[in-house]
Amino acid sequence: MLWKLERVPEPEVMDESSEVEAYASAAAQAYLERIDRTFVTHVARLFPAGDPRLVRGLALDVGCGPGQIPIMMAARWPGLRITGLDAAPAMIEQARKDAARARVAISFQVLRLGPHGEARLPFDDASFDLVTSNSVLHHVADPVAFFDEIARVAKREGGVLIRDVRRPSALAYPLHVRWFGRKYSGEMRRLYEASVHAAYTAGELRDLLTESRLNDGRSRVFRFRLTHLGIERAAA
Ligand SMILES: C[S@@+](CC[C@H](N)C(=O)[O-])C[C@H]1O[C@@H](n2cnc3c(N)ncnc32)[C@H](O)[C@@H]1O
Repeated sequence: MLWKLERVPEPEVMDESSEVEAYASAAAQAYLERIDRTFVTHVARLFPAGDPRLVRGLALDVGCGPGQIPIMMAARWPGLRITGLDAAPAMIEQARKDAARARVAISFQVLRLGPHGEARLPFDDASFDLVTSNSVLHHVADPVAFFDEIARVAKREGGVLIRDVRRPSALAYPLHVRWFGRKYSGEMRRLYEASVHAAYTAGELRDLLTESRLNDGRSRVFRFRLTHLGIERAAA
């Protein structure tokens, strides 16, 4: 198709200091914070109001980067015991510093999920009430294995939220990144454009979900605004 934008995968691990700094820069963080809040609100919607699993359950955030999302979740649900993992040691170092500054207790670990790292995470089957992952999928070398492993470590009744940016058509791409990337500059702008180019479409994501063990009748592909999509599974 003429208007189809071919996917250009991004490197998996973000461990360049320029990447960590760009991501953690004040301007990018202020803008990202608003978007990240919508992620945490989405997590809340996956559970009935006041559900004890959010109040004192176990959560895992895969590809936590500098930790904004787990830190926000810890502030909202102080009894939730959260583990954040990322393949990049520099991201984990930043996450630990930011969590200490925010006075929240989160276990951050350097772990790389997938064919180039841990095919199996060091957690038992059905360990977590909630598994989240934000803005990671477009980096991942084997998305079906990624979903399979999330399905394995999540409790069967637990909630799952995997959200990412969305790849538009070739026609829409220039305007899409210009408008939705307008708050980013320099390295962060470059990273944003590359991530949109590396992202999946809703159709592609549906096909990947169908192939994976996360396809359990409760998980579904969702779209969020014009910019994001993902897989959500409400807690049962
Ligand atoms: C764009 S950042 C997103 C960070 C964070 N989740 C957020 O919302 O700000 C993507 C992160 O995923 C990590 N990552 C990519 N592939 C990974 C994998 N296979 N296992 C663990 N972390 C991974 C990268 O190192 C990077 O920190």
